[in-house]
Amino acid sequence: MQPILHRRAFLRNSTLLGAGLAANSVFAVNLTAGVKKVKVGLIGCGGRGVGAIGNFMEACKILGIEAELVAAGDAFKEKAESAGKRYSLPADRCYGGYDNYQKVLASDCDYVVMATPPAFRPVHFAAAVEAGKHCFIEKPVAVDAPGARSVMATGERAAVKGLAVVAGTQRRHMAEYLTNKALIDAGAIGQIKGGVVQWNGTVPWTKRRNAGESDASYMTRNWLNFTELSGDHIVEQHVHNLDVAVWFLGRPPVAAVGFGGRARRETGNMFDFFSVDYDFGDDVHIHSQCRQISGTYGRVGESFTGTEGSCYGGGKLNGKKVLIPEIQVDSSNGQVQEHIDMIRSVNAGNPLNDAKRIAESTLVAIMGRISAYTGEIVRWNDLVKNEQSPHFGAICTPTALDFEHGPITLPAEVPPVPGKA
Ligand SMILES: NC(=O)c1ccc[n+]([C@@H]2O[C@H](COP(=O)([O-])OP(=O)(O)OC[C@H]3O[C@@H](n4cnc5c(N)ncnc54)[C@H](O)[C@@H]3O)[C@@H](O)[C@H]2O)c1
Repeated sequence: MQPILHRRAFLRNSTLLGAGLAANSVFAVNLTAGVKKVKVGLIGCGGRGVGAIGNFMEACKILGIEAELVAAGDAFKEKAESAGKRYSLPADRCYGGYDNYQKVLASDCDYVVMATPPAFRPVHFAAAVEAGKHCFIEKPVAVDAPGARSVMATGERAAVKGLAVVAGTQRRHMAEYLTNKALIDAGAIGQIKGGVVQWNGTVPWTKRRNAGESDASYMTRNWLNFTELSGDHIVEQHVHNLDVAVWFLGRPPVAAVGFGGRARRETGNMFDFFSVDYDFGDDVHIHSQCRQISGTYGRVGESFTGTEGSCYGGGKLNGKKVLIPEIQVDSSNGQVQEHIDMIRSVNAGNPLNDAKRIAESTLVAIMGRISAYTGEIVRWNDLVKNEQSPHFGAICTPTALDFEHGPITLPAEVPPVPGKA
């Protein structure tokens, strides 16, 4: 059964946003006329930071706007310089140290791309909004509940200041996902009753400690294996798939019960597998699985079962015939399209603001992690409302500010024990 009918329709931006779509879907016309050049700064010059700047440049090219990288910051100055070199940025505008973000934000950039380990995002994002910059914030945006709530609050300040906040959840900018979301909202598969979201793969990388290296340097270089900096892989990586579940269902879960453990990870203090039951209320459960173990079955994706059909996140949908507007994107690369959508929204005077929704999806992942680490049921309200809950104010230390003011103490490289953590 392949019953999808498309109807070309040019709806107002607000209508589409109400339906959970991004602004890209309708603005085939170029609303950037008049804006000839934009300046961008980069905080966190690793793989994704450099990649995101390339995506930003590509987005500007598609929009017919000149773009210039005017400042780059990284905990390690040589990484900032290496990124800067690609865009002819002089070394004196490449900054190192844990206060690098302040120097990037003191530049005349209009936009700032933030791609450090997520533990730093709440502090850097707050400073960027304070400095009046439009923000591209890589996912996830925090590692603990206070951090995620701080991102929500900063997002509200950004809205008051008319600043754009766009998160690096590229699926929300891809035609396949936008189409399935629109079809679901139009009733194509009825009510979603359950599903599975997965990121089952391998450990992306491991860094060993160098002789004589400080705790801060080792932990920063090996951040992907420390919960305090990454949030663990359920947060750092699997947030993409959990975000799709929250997006398609239109609400966060009410509770999570999960478990996990560590079989083969060699450094740091994280788990390498999680299995979490997310209860979305109304008898709807989504099973979340994520694993980083080499040599095991791998699958990354989402699937949902509804009362009248089923679908994969950005894949095949079986269901009823429904009419939806044609989804238009400028780039088949969601990581380019997210920048196009951000810049276009600013130039149209209607800046996108993803802060609340990416903070919520980050919290959903944190909820699963806390449940697996402790062995307890964790309720949504424990993280957003119930100040009496031990999880409400629990913070991961060392924090971003601990790194900035230093020195920090390396956490023990052992994983939590459920029932005892
Ligand atoms: N959207 C996606 O598909 C996607 C893909 C990969 C990574 N990411 C996200 O992007 C972020 C960065 O990941 P990555 O793969 O580029 O990691 P990476 O290790 O390649 O880069 C991180 C960089 O940040 C630097 N850094 C660390 N602490 C810093 C600080 N306080 N200030 C400035 N710089 C600091 C590191 O030195 C490093 O150069 C993470 O949040 C990750 O989850 C998103």
